[in-house]
This record gives sequence, C-alpha cells and structure tokens, in this order.
Amino acid sequence: LDLFLDSADLAEVEPLLATGLFAGVTTNPTLLARAGVGSDRLPAVVERMRAAGARTLFVQTWGATTEDLLRNAREIRDRCGDVGIKIPVTPAGIAATRALADGGVVTLVTAVYNHVQVLPAVAAGATFVAPYVGRMTDNGRDGVGEVLTMQRILDAVGSSTRLLVASLRSPADVARLAAGGVDCFTIAPAMWEQLLDEPLTTEAVRVFEDDVARTRAPHAGHR
Ligand code: E4P
Repeated sequence: LDLFLDSADLAEVEPLLATGLFAGVTTNPTLLARAGVGSDRLPAVVERMRAAGARTLFVQTWGATTEDLLRNAREIRDRCGDVGIKIPVTPAGIAATRALADGGVVTLVTAVYNHVQVLPAVAAGATFVAPYVGRMTDNGRDGVGEVLTMQRILDAVGSSTRLLVASLRSPADVARLAAGGVDCFTIAPAMWEQLLDEPLTTEAVRVFEDDVARTRAPHAGHR
C-alpha cells in the first residue's frame, strides 16, 4: 500500500512526511495556487518536501501541444530535480507521456474520469494513472465502480501501470477500493485524520490511560 499526500501546503505536509508513513506528495496547479506557491518558489518547496522525507514528488506540466507539455516538463525537472511529471489524459498529454516514459521519467497520467482512459495511459507507458473518484461521483458517475474496472483492466492486460487514486472524498471509498485490489492513493492531509477517527477507539484509550494512572505506583527512577 502506498499513500501520497495531495497538497502543496508545507505546514500540512512536512509534519506528516516526517512520520515516514507517506510515499510522497502529489501537486497540481490548483493545489499550488491554493497553497500560494508561485513558480518562483516551487524548487524550494519541492526541496523542503524532499528534506521532510518525500521519496516521490509529482509536479504537473502544462501546455496545449505535446511540445509545450514536454518543454514545460523539462523546465520543471531542470528547476526541481528528479520529480515525477503529471500529465492530463489528452491526446497531446498521452504523446508527451510516451516520450517522457521512454526517457525514463516517472509519469502520472491525470484528470482521468472514465475507465476507458486507462488504456491510452497504459499504451503510453505511464507509471501511474490518477482517476478522480470524487469528481466522477460529483458528476453523476460511479467513481468507485469506474476505478475498480480500471484495476481489472490493468490486471487483465498484465500492465505494470499503477492506479494512484485521487479526488477522494471519504475513508470508506479508500477502503472499498483497497478491498478491490487498489493499493495506491493520494489523500488530502485532512483525510489522514479522518482515516484514524474512531470514537470507540478514543474512548477505549481514555479508559486505558485512566487505569494506568490509577495503578501506576511510584517506583525508583520513575518521575
Ligand atoms: C489530483 O491531484 C487531483 O487534482 C485532486 O486530487 C483533485 O481533488 P479534488 O476533486 O478534491 O479537487
């Protein structure tokens, strides 16, 4: 199981990366804008994330043509070092993905809204594919069902391309997808708290703590 953090906000991301529980960070232009990270600050932010423990980092390229996408991807990597490149699943983006994959760059085909789109991503040699579960559901589609079909396609064709599921709205969706064989997710930092939020556990721990306090006799060497 690999969990990524879907955020460009260092205040959110650094402490969670320091736990060692997360494989890395996914960003996109919207997350960068939301975190107030302009292109001038991007290399420093990426470096802080690496220093905090991110093993894999994704930055999204942009542009209308394959050449634009590739030129901007080169600029990103020149400035930020060995980051993975996110590319939208468009005709130009798929052609750019093929070129980047052939050059040994870790790629993440993104903005995936239906299961058929996983096929061009596989043909392009994408390392990861990012379906937007929440946004599919927001648009009246069966987001979880679409992603489970994508996983079945990847398994059936024996592809090494992995789903890196994004736009997650609930821990229950993560669990349902994991039960269906999906093993890589990118989550907003707040979702991590939700994943661990169980009132019955909290209450059980409170009782344990009370019982420790009640039975903890003073010993030499204990303060
Ligand atoms: C991936 O990084 C996506 O852009 C992101 O997960 C979308 O999530 P949202 O649907 O909450 O905006």
